[in-house]
Amino acid sequence: MEGIKFNQVGIAFKGSGSYVPDQILTNQKISQKVDTSDEWIKSRTGISERRIAGFGDNVSEMGYKAALTAIKMANWDIKTIDLIVLATSTPNDLFGSAPSIQAKLGANNAVAFDLTAACSGFLFALITASQFLKGGSFKRAIVIGADQLSSFVDWNDRRSCILFGDGAGALAIEATSEFDNLIGFDMRTDGQRGSFLNLPSKNNEDSIIENIDFLSGGFASIKMNGQEVYKFAVREVPIILEKLFIRNNYSSAEIDWLVLHQANQRILDSVGDRLKIPREKILSNLDKYGNTSAATIPLMMDEAIRNNRIKQNDIIATSGFGAGLSWGAALIKWG
Ligand code: ACO
Repeated sequence: MEGIKFNQVGIAFKGSGSYVPDQILTNQKISQKVDTSDEWIKSRTGISERRIAGFGDNVSEMGYKAALTAIKMANWDIKTIDLIVLATSTPNDLFGSAPSIQAKLGANNAVAFDLTAACSGFLFALITASQFLKGGSFKRAIVIGADQLSSFVDWNDRRSCILFGDGAGALAIEATSEFDNLIGFDMRTDGQRGSFLNLPSKNNEDSIIENIDFLSGGFASIKMNGQEVYKFAVREVPIILEKLFIRNNYSSAEIDWLVLHQANQRILDSVGDRLKIPREKILSNLDKYGNTSAATIPLMMDEAIRNNRIKQNDIIATSGFGAGLSWGAALIKWG
């Protein structure tokens, strides 16, 4: 794609898609591995089960399947896609997994790249892609969130292994000169609090030949201070959303749906309470999937769109938050 200038002012949302692996890991099954119980996990997190990628699945395969269903809903000719942005922290190729999704789709005219911002990744990718569209460089984009945290969870750590699952979601967005359905957004990071949630590299000291040292590459497992992450989320997410509402002249009563990163039901409820958004407007599917990191927001949106809950012109307030620490929010009109 050569960055041709179109006269565009805004974004239209044209399609959604998602994919989760077949393997179901229930709370009851996790309790065979670590000292926990279905009752503890459900009451503290709202999670009942999660999907785990099997040997045939990886981020590019899951992302491809989610993207393809979004493209079908949008009814696009695949050759008209200009941009593919994949939000992931767990690429199956450290050099980037988006190009392999481009190849699987046959989207030969698109440029494809990865973006990493943990559980804020989808929102950051959506905002990034929308800037290319609003700037007039590209017309059609697929934004994907896909993660396979099961590969990096310490399956002996009961404080974290209960939370995560695998999956992918995608949205198809298009530049338009008539309106802007990405009403507003905000993005934040605070690296000083980054140690609350990490997936650090783990290098072994080795030498290539005598007197030439090197570090062999690899990764440790997820390290999390659950209580600090919890406090961060319930404090910062209402603040960023409230500021967004004020800046765009919306009141929380005008919000049809609150679509938060699906980390913990107690976080969802607490943010909803602080914003005075009633429970029936807070979308949640983490009982089935747990925290799928960059995938949660499009996975939730796709389910609600296909169930006819989110309808054309509905106003959606969305926020992603997590490692970095990073957080972001967007106000969207669906359609
Ligand atoms: N089963 C049974 N007991 C457990 C378990 C478990 N799975 N995990 C911890 N406990 C125990 C602890 O050992 C502790 O016992 P102790 O008091 O004897 O030491 C007790 O339960 C309470 O532990 P807390 O850590 O205080 O439990 P808390 O109520 O904070 O819940 C949780 C923990 C669910 C992790 C919560 O802190 C949370 O959800 N935090 C947010 C985490 C999160 O969302 N992370 C992802 C962010 S998004 C991203 O970017 C990846």
